[in-house]
Amino acid sequence: MKSQHISIVGTGYVGLCTAIGFASKGYKIITSTHNVERATSINRGVPPFYEPDLQETLLNVVRNGYLKCVLTREEAVLNTDVTFITVATPSQPDGTIDLRHIKSSAIEIGKALNKKDTYHLVVVKSTVVPGTTENMVKLLLEKHSNKHCGSDFGLCMNPEFLREGSALHDTLHPDRIIIGEHDKKSGDALDALYKEFYGEETLPTIRTNLPTAELIKYANNAFLATKISFINIIANICEKILGADITTVAESIGLDQRINPRFLRAGLGYGGSCFPKDVKALIAFSNQLGYIPTILQAVQEVNENQAKHAVEKAKEKLAELNGKRIAILGLSFKPNTDDMREAQSVPIINQLLNEGANVTAYDPVAIPNAKSIFKNKIIYASSPVECLTDADCCIIVTEWDEFKKLMAEDFTQNMRHPILIDGRRIYNPEEYSQKLEFVTIGLGQ
Ligand code: UDX
Repeated sequence: MKSQHISIVGTGYVGLCTAIGFASKGYKIITSTHNVERATSINRGVPPFYEPDLQETLLNVVRNGYLKCVLTREEAVLNTDVTFITVATPSQPDGTIDLRHIKSSAIEIGKALNKKDTYHLVVVKSTVVPGTTENMVKLLLEKHSNKHCGSDFGLCMNPEFLREGSALHDTLHPDRIIIGEHDKKSGDALDALYKEFYGEETLPTIRTNLPTAELIKYANNAFLATKISFINIIANICEKILGADITTVAESIGLDQRINPRFLRAGLGYGGSCFPKDVKALIAFSNQLGYIPTILQAVQEVNENQAKHAVEKAKEKLAELNGKRIAILGLSFKPNTDDMREAQSVPIINQLLNEGANVTAYDPVAIPNAKSIFKNKIIYASSPVECLTDADCCIIVTEWDEFKKLMAEDFTQNMRHPILIDGRRIYNPEEYSQKLEFVTIGLGQ
């Protein structure tokens, strides 16, 4: 029997994966959402989004009574000892984050705490700019509970680093734990919970104050985004030097242990629900403090240009795009997810459509989400071969394993003009450039 009952407010990637992670290790979990359809789906054991292994693990924990989803924060808080806040903090048009869900969650949790007699720990897991936990969450919790933070209830900020596509794995095997604590008692409580959860596996744990923990999340994502934009500019330089190859450059600099090889894959840039939003938010937040974070502005600019780069390459090959049929392989922002948020496929397809091209797209799982974005402006294929049929040019936008298995012949035999733009460096340039018109990222050709 685990020592704590846990509630999780918010059922997005972070919330649901954290919930399922705890439940799979024997914790009784109550998740909460105001979305009736979502709650019903979770209670039936059906995750509202695609993620490897999630479906079977969710079904298992729901059937065994370890996880349920309720519709009110109050029910979740009153029946548990710890509450994680994992609601979304989306971008606003000026780049700052929208804290509306954090606010409403803190109010509702505060009201529920007012009805509780025992100590309760509240943990902010959502990505929030420094100062939010202390100046917004704490104040709202105290105001609506009529209780004192530190003695009546605890408060921590505990950023999450899980990646989509391996969210459950990352939840169960994080690199480290960051505990931003309002006071020592709060930090001790969260530390004890994680020690019990991770058991013998001793994870590096950093205990710090609330704003430092909040900033760590932004610094982490901004640094990874910087690595990607950095390798993409080196890739662009490679393209101007005959024979220069970014994969060998990346492999070589990655062997320097001060650099390390991860997040040095050149391609069409980063997307997803975190990097674009977090880089933007950190820029906007710094600006508000009167500081211009020059590197981050460049990281963002390089990333936006990387999507255009794929279209430029198609244009160079086809002279003009008007009336041409372009096959897009891959729509999700990365493999193993159906998430289309800030996917590079979106600006690429929009630009192709603006230039008068006809677009056919295929993705193993993201087509339902893509339909809500592109409606009937593009054609959706049900297989890579159907997508390639009669195309004048193909762009690899997402590096799904399924595409890595395609042979040069799949392109030459099905396309009208076998022009292939490998935006993710998945094919062997020596072989493919002998068999078809082949252009790739970061290779001086
Ligand atoms: C990221 C962070 O990795 C994670 O710690 C945080 O909690 C949420 O944001 P995620 O967005 O799920 O996770 O995906 P990630 O694997 O980091 O990839 C982000 C984007 O960068 C993808 O579009 C991917 O294609 C791109 N990328 C990644 C590259 O272009 N090159 C690389 O070398 C690595």
